[in-house]
Amino acid sequence: MSKKPLAGKKVVVTAGGTLERIDPVRFISNDSSGKMGFAVARAAQQLGAEVTIIAGSTQVQPPSGIKITSVESASEMFEAVNALWEATDILVKAAAVADYRPKERAMHKMKKSGDTMTLELVKNIDILETLGRNKTSQFLIGFAAETNELETYAMDKLRRKNCDLLVANDVTMEGAGFSSDTNVVNIYDTNGLAVSLPKLSKEEVGLRIMELVAERTVGLSR
Ligand code: PMT
Repeated sequence: MSKKPLAGKKVVVTAGGTLERIDPVRFISNDSSGKMGFAVARAAQQLGAEVTIIAGSTQVQPPSGIKITSVESASEMFEAVNALWEATDILVKAAAVADYRPKERAMHKMKKSGDTMTLELVKNIDILETLGRNKTSQFLIGFAAETNELETYAMDKLRRKNCDLLVANDVTMEGAGFSSDTNVVNIYDTNGLAVSLPKLSKEEVGLRIMELVAERTVGLSR
């Protein structure tokens, strides 16, 4: 295979966590640092692709020399990805997207009152599932952050979201998942387990994912 097997391909990578505002000073988010998504983006660029990152909240410097659009909420992330969707060849959804957001966003800082408070949440759009349903020629890679029954949940997400590949990490494992510099992943396709990787740096995991994507997309044209 050539050293630039993704030359001519447009790759979109989502990275980081979404942030759902409660009021001007409070929000719901998660521990995603952006490291995994940024590593995938670097690998895609190294393999010759034209890469765009859609980044939510992140804790590390984004890769230099790659186009990046910053977003906050799941709905903003959906709009940014959807705007590029038709021209996208490969989408990698490494971001940790909030499944719910506060039903109301208070205009002013909420004041303390009773001993308990209830926050009503409404479901966010599932970006991957929505785009998976509208897939034409795009190659779609989802991620799954799980704490148990990795394979069962990963295969369910792969099928439900119509992904070509699903990268699953058990985020309870030492050296895997959120914020760490390493990850431990299994990659599934529609037939089941395709690749099981040992603990590797996120840079190396990103490269292995994109090399597999390159293998699977060679000869596929839009
Ligand atoms: O950023 P790091 O600190 O390096 O951490 C990396 C990571 C743990 C965030 C990453 O490896 C990872 O697992 N990303 C996916 C996290 C996640 O949200 O998983 P999920 O199982 O909740 O979602 C499954 C898939 O659906 C994901 O591709 C997600 O982007 C997508 N999704 C989820 C909900 C939603 N409303 N829209 C989506 O598109």
